[in-house]
Amino acid sequence: MPGVSFDVAATAYDRFMGRYSVRLSPRLADLAGVQAGQRVLDVGCGPGALTGELVSRTGAANVAAVDPSAPFVDAARTRYPGVDVGQASAEQLPFEGDVFDAALAQLVVHFMTDPVRGIAEMARVTRPGGVVAACVWDHAGRHGPLAQFWDAARSMDPTVADESSLPGVREGHLASLFQEAGLGRVEASVLSADLEHPTFDAWWQPFTEGVGPAGVYVASLSPERQAELRERCRAALGDGPFTVVARAWAARGTA
Ligand SMILES: C[S@@+](CC[C@H](N)C(=O)[O-])C[C@H]1O[C@@H](n2cnc3c(N)ncnc32)[C@H](O)[C@@H]1O
Repeated sequence: MPGVSFDVAATAYDRFMGRYSVRLSPRLADLAGVQAGQRVLDVGCGPGALTGELVSRTGAANVAAVDPSAPFVDAARTRYPGVDVGQASAEQLPFEGDVFDAALAQLVVHFMTDPVRGIAEMARVTRPGGVVAACVWDHAGRHGPLAQFWDAARSMDPTVADESSLPGVREGHLASLFQEAGLGRVEASVLSADLEHPTFDAWWQPFTEGVGPAGVYVASLSPERQAELRERCRAALGDGPFTVVARAWAARGTA
């Protein structure tokens, strides 16, 4: 997706998407069956929402993580000493083959430049019979946490490049990508991380920090258009408190 930006402060990411992804992490780790004693990889770790969950299950020395974003790699290293955190992309993982019991990617496949290659790389570094698991928001079905935002943006500009056509975000597509990448026993499921927001302003503010496609879009607007978008969102959501549905398509398979 042109213009997607994760060259932002980790704390801005925490406020914007980390507030949901930290709730998703135990669900994805459960899906992958991560448990004590396993050696596991977090692909596209960001500042470490899932990394922290993996560390709590299997210990820092058994966790490796990679992300292409330099500020996120720095943050994950600082937050989780002892974890082997590297700057790399899924499509070219800097590991020998068969070294992990499980490889996970949370909210990453839709940003990969080559999702099939990225998932195949996750399988390559996982031992035979080990688990590869991933999840991405249900952007196409409008049950991801950004649904109200993109609805409002589309109502202002029907041609806006929302995230609904990215790889994996429509029903069944993530599992298809897993099959294309050669994984065995592929199973699809749904994970949820619904979140209550106390006020509209607390929900909106992180959209103004330039994180991801939504943040890049807000930053591209004039102050007047930003205000119009904000008020369209407020009209849909109210002043709060309100609960935002955050549903993700998930897939797991065996290497
Ligand atoms: C929405 S964030 C998810 C971060 C973290 N996994 C979480 O759940 O909070 C997407 C992440 O994917 C990373 N990313 C983008 N393209 C990638 C690629 N080709 N391979 C691996 N990670 C990638 C970004 O840098 C960003 O950290």
